[in-house]
Amino acid sequence: MPFDTDLLHRLKRHAQTTASLGTLATKFLWHKDDDASKARALTETLGGLKGPLMKVGQILSTIPDMLPSDYVEALSSLQSKAPPMGWLFVKRRLKAELGDGWESCFGSFEKEARHAASLGQVHKAMDLQGKDLAVKIQYPDMSSVIEADLQQLKLLLKVYEQSQKSIKTEEVFDEIATHLRQELDYCREARFLQSFKELLKDQPFVVVPTVDTASSTQHLLTMEWVEGYPLTHFEEADESTRNHLAKTLFMAWYTPLYTAGLLHGDPHLGNYTATPDGQKINLLDFGCVRIFEPSFVEGILILYDALKHKNQKKAAEAYELWGFQNLSFELIETLNLWATYLYDPLLDDQVRFIHPELNSQEGQRIAKVIHEKLKALGGATPPRTFVFMDRVAVGLGSVFLRLKARLNWHDLFQELTQNFQKDGFLEHQKKALA
Ligand SMILES: Nc1ncnc2c1ncn2[C@@H]1O[C@H](COP(=O)(O)OP(=O)(O)O)[C@@H](O)[C@H]1O
Ligand SMILES: [Mg+2]
Repeated sequence: MPFDTDLLHRLKRHAQTTASLGTLATKFLWHKDDDASKARALTETLGGLKGPLMKVGQILSTIPDMLPSDYVEALSSLQSKAPPMGWLFVKRRLKAELGDGWESCFGSFEKEARHAASLGQVHKAMDLQGKDLAVKIQYPDMSSVIEADLQQLKLLLKVYEQSQKSIKTEEVFDEIATHLRQELDYCREARFLQSFKELLKDQPFVVVPTVDTASSTQHLLTMEWVEGYPLTHFEEADESTRNHLAKTLFMAWYTPLYTAGLLHGDPHLGNYTATPDGQKINLLDFGCVRIFEPSFVEGILILYDALKHKNQKKAAEAYELWGFQNLSFELIETLNLWATYLYDPLLDDQVRFIHPELNSQEGQRIAKVIHEKLKALGGATPPRTFVFMDRVAVGLGSVFLRLKARLNWHDLFQELTQNFQKDGFLEHQKKALA
């Protein structure tokens, strides 16, 4: 068996990352004022990491006040730099997952990876009938890598929390940890692929790849290959294409939420493509799916009414349903600031951009105001339910801005939510999770 240098490199890098993240946390304590240099150090530290922490950066960047803005920028700019697994290693993984006869599962199999994945890599292959397949192969031992990263993340968040005293990070950490651990299980992801396919079957412009369960395992996911471009490819397309794609994306994300409480928690640009004609969205990567109780979804609708009628009591009711605690008048006012920003396009019955300015500056300005107010109030604990809901709203919002999409978001929201019923919802959820 040849010596596996790839794996060695990777392990070494993880070890370095882990060590230097700890150092970083210490530095953080001593140099509270210099965010820019800390951000630089963080980028350097994490720059070589191919793994779950990149995702965490993207999640944290959407929660106002969770991390300083320099950190957010540093984390968002991280690119995967790890070398891919070589063919010999890939073959070994295939054999380990599918057995000695792995070759008989495929008509052909490309030796070089087409795409990097956060816990592995994606190869193109063909099934025995000649249909194109995407095969996501997980690196070995990712579970211990994730645990090590999570420990470091916890430390970093704690240190920041203590120095800032505006947002309590415990619940957010728990939520992220739960979902990162779940992401290790490709069988779970395969089940969600099937659930989402079913929940989106009446959306003519959304494609969810079909899973090949016979050639999938806990660490290997085989599905239909879907051809497409990243959405950035369509930024200069004609207006009707851009609007159509934005609308399709909106429906793809929120239909499963309002029908069955299932939310694809990672609207990262790599997790969907558009077919070359700009007509359909291929929805990918069901590694991070959040399941919501009906009461949470009810909370979304109650908050909508509360903001519409400026009803403080109703808003409090919604935040409570979401799991916020110790809701003082001032805290509700502060949460309303953020909620108003996110709900504004849904409340405004006209064709418009998702946010009036074509950049996310306004979001950052509001996040800053919220930071000051929360600090003055002695902090708040965002409930774990909030994490991915917020991540999705902010993430999709920024894509709608990039597409310069002009839509009546109010009408889209009404269309999605008018039939919300607790009973039907639970039934759908049960079916989707069966
Ligand atoms: N079914 C598919 N067809 C074509 N490309 C795919 C498919 N699934 C994934 N990919 C490509 O592989 C990349 C990584 O897959 P993804 O499921 O997003 O992994 P991860 O969960 O690690 O982010 C995607 O960004 C996409 O470019
Ligand atoms: Mg992905």
